[in-house]
Amino acid sequence: MCGIIGFTGKLQAAEILVGGLEQLEYRGYDSAGIAVNENDQTKIVKTTGKVANLREKVSTADDISGTCGIGHTRWATHGGVTDTNAHPHVSGNVTLIHNGIIENYKELAASLKEKGYFAVSETDTEVAAMLIDSLYTGDPFTALREADKILEGAYGFCVMFKDHPGEIYCMRNASPLVASYTEDGAFIASDMVALLKYTKDYFVVPEEHIVVMTQDAITLYTMDEKVEEPKMLHVDWDTTAAQKGGYAYFMQKEIYDQPEALHNTVMPRLHNGHADFSADNISDDIFKGINRVVVTACGTAMHAGLIGRHLIESMLRIPVTVELSSEFRYMNPILDENTLVIVVTQSGETADSLAALRLANERGAKTISIVNVKGSSIARESDYVLYTHAGPEIAVASTKAFSVQCAGMYLIALKLAEINQMMSEEEMADYCAKFEEAIATVEDVLKMDDYIKGIAEKIKDTFSAFYLGRSLDFGIASEGSLKLKEISYVNSEAYNAGELKHGTISLVTEGVPIIAIATQDHVLSKLMANVEEVKARGAHVIMVTDKDMSAYDGIYDDLIQVPEVDDKFGTFGVTVALQLLAYHVTVFRGYDVDQPRNLAKSVTVE
Ligand code: M6R
Repeated sequence: MCGIIGFTGKLQAAEILVGGLEQLEYRGYDSAGIAVNENDQTKIVKTTGKVANLREKVSTADDISGTCGIGHTRWATHGGVTDTNAHPHVSGNVTLIHNGIIENYKELAASLKEKGYFAVSETDTEVAAMLIDSLYTGDPFTALREADKILEGAYGFCVMFKDHPGEIYCMRNASPLVASYTEDGAFIASDMVALLKYTKDYFVVPEEHIVVMTQDAITLYTMDEKVEEPKMLHVDWDTTAAQKGGYAYFMQKEIYDQPEALHNTVMPRLHNGHADFSADNISDDIFKGINRVVVTACGTAMHAGLIGRHLIESMLRIPVTVELSSEFRYMNPILDENTLVIVVTQSGETADSLAALRLANERGAKTISIVNVKGSSIARESDYVLYTHAGPEIAVASTKAFSVQCAGMYLIALKLAEINQMMSEEEMADYCAKFEEAIATVEDVLKMDDYIKGIAEKIKDTFSAFYLGRSLDFGIASEGSLKLKEISYVNSEAYNAGELKHGTISLVTEGVPIIAIATQDHVLSKLMANVEEVKARGAHVIMVTDKDMSAYDGIYDDLIQVPEVDDKFGTFGVTVALQLLAYHVTVFRGYDVDQPRNLAKSVTVE
């Protein structure tokens, strides 16, 4: 949700900023802008649209040289998509970029007006710039610290002060910032992918800290101005992982990354028929005496929770609820020390999920998160973290992150079973063998790409679609449907198959695609009865299954049959088939697969 970058050092800033924003564009692409400072001059170039528009504008701008600057790519929250609302914003001495939301901006704007400050944009960010300027008496640090006491909401700021050329002051309360120093200079960004061209070593700026960047150094301060030694981290994935590598889109590449992502997430943690979390430093204690599990997450990550729920409840008979993080924090949840709260998140920065985790911690529940981004806020604040090893996911639509999140659920289910003695040694060994077999089938599903493309072409012009599934398959259907709708703009919904005739079947007319998921033997005949009902109303039925469907010939129009696996592990192969279907429909419809309208990858505002 908005990408920010800053650099000061020996190199020309403009190219570093624009190049970095191209990497951060997945965080928002409504507008983009940079400010470059040289001596007492600060030049700003900003424009609506994607970073490509900014690059074009920068290339024709009058002199934009300078070795210190800040850049921003915006996902609009307050104020429309206009050049004026694009960042950076300027007020007096201050030039500022911001990721987050200032909640009390209206009150602040009113009081600043009395001091002669008038905003030109409609943004909350400009009010923050005005506030900092109003507090500035020559010491940037003090102005920021005072602003921190007044501002409400979430922010990561990078600020340049007119009379401090060559310096950038950054402050974070909630929105993520990572920083680094190399012999070329000091860097800061919302996400490491923006800095990979220059360094793989970095630190996460902790909340309520200020970073001062000069051409020779980067210093981390607490709010009371004490220098703090940053905790350095190292990016351990190959830098090419953040490139498209010959694929047309990041989403396509990330679909194809899945065999490796699953292998890296699962295999090091399966040892002799047991889930082994020793390398993760996860104590067995967290799984002891658990009588309830709550999974909280948003979007795709929540769908991984649905898979986890089915698995844990059906296998272990422990009650599981799956709660949207955005609701969880407002529903006064009942939690105690026997509740295991699992937070699932790719970015580790989703504001609602972070708030849900904090609430769970406050209420004394045991917390574990399934996170992809190392060192992210949710990873740091959970009792324990099970990292998924998917590498960077750049496309807004989650693909490989979902598969490894589900894998994380399967691993936790096994661990819970072992610690609470709910499975025998033989059962656990069998579980591990079947788990391995299931993730290995993903390679075979990828070989069906062209075949699935052919089916996508048949439904590419549809206005709506429905995904049906029962039991575990409802979670898979929910994710398949989200994939299709978020990138292709097909009006798609997922239903528990038996529920359709309680209302929604009235929307099923001639040719409407119904994508029916069938990986669960115990409900197969029931599902197929529902499929017959929609077929009778003219639906175009696409069966996605690992089962032999010959007994149902004539009930469906198209069949995507992935390799058969044990029912418990039906998630993996079918999910990949649905991702490919959504991808190809979108390409046929001519939309930007990686950057669907109105969306951003990392939702760091409430
Ligand atoms: O980073 P998170 O996993 O916490 O993000 C949660 C959702 O915003 C995310 O899963 C979103 O629904 C997907 N990108 C959609 O494909």
